[in-house]
Amino acid sequence: MFKSLFRPARIERDLSFIGADMHSHMLPGLDDGAVTMEESLGFFRLMQDWGYQKCIATPHIFKGVHNNSPETILAVYEKVKAALQEADLRIQLEAAAEYMVDESFMELLQQQQPLLTIGGKYVLIEMSYAAPSPFIESAVFQLNIQGYKPILAHPERYGFYHFNFPQYERLLEMGCVFQVNLLSLSGYYGPEVKKTALKLIRAGKVQLIGTDLHHYNHADAIKQFTVTREFYEITRNMQLLNSSLL
Ligand SMILES: [Fe+2]
Repeated sequence: MFKSLFRPARIERDLSFIGADMHSHMLPGLDDGAVTMEESLGFFRLMQDWGYQKCIATPHIFKGVHNNSPETILAVYEKVKAALQEADLRIQLEAAAEYMVDESFMELLQQQQPLLTIGGKYVLIEMSYAAPSPFIESAVFQLNIQGYKPILAHPERYGFYHFNFPQYERLLEMGCVFQVNLLSLSGYYGPEVKKTALKLIRAGKVQLIGTDLHHYNHADAIKQFTVTREFYEITRNMQLLNSSLL
C-alpha cells in the first residue's frame, strides 16, 4: 500500500521504442519550424537524448506558403548532416517532406514528378485544418497507383472529421496509413484532438507516431508528457511501424 502511495508521478523518459521519428520541421529556414542551424542542432540533441535513433525531417511543401521542392530540402539536409557530424551527434538524419494536398500537389502527381519519400515508399500528406481538401481521395488513389503509400499526417487534428468516423475508415480502406502526433496525446492541441487520437489508437487505426516538432514550445510539451505513465500506457500496445524505418 505504502509503495503505491509513494509511487513517483514522473518516470524516466525513454523514447527508444519508437526508434525513428518520421515527422518534424527541424531543418533550418525552410518552413515554420527551426530557424537557425544552432536551433536545429539543439532539437537534434534533444531527440537523441530522448532515445530516438533516427529523425526523418519533413519540411512543408505548400505552394505559396512554404515554396519548397526536393532541391531546396536536400540542399539544407546536406548542410545539417555535415553540421551533425561536426557536433558529434550520432542521431541519423534523413529528409522527406510533408505535402499539402492542394492543386499544385495534384499537378506533381499528374506530371509523375518524383516525390520525397519516407522509407522509400511512404509519402506524408496533410490538409488544411479549416476544411477537407477536395483532392484528398484522389491524391490517395493516385499515390497508390504510382506505387507510393500515403501517410495522412495527424488525422486527429482535422476537426471536420471528428464526428465523421466513416471518413477515417474510408481513407484507411483506400490505402492510407495514419500518423498521430505525440503532442496530440499530451493534450497540447486541446481535449477534442486528444479524444480523437485516443479513439483512433484504441480502434487500432494508427500505425505511426510523430513529433511534428516545430519549436521549443513543442519540445517542452513533449518533454513533460514523456515522463508521465499515461504516455507509456497509451503507446504500450500500439503496433508501430516507426522502428521499421530505422
Ligand atoms: Fe507537420
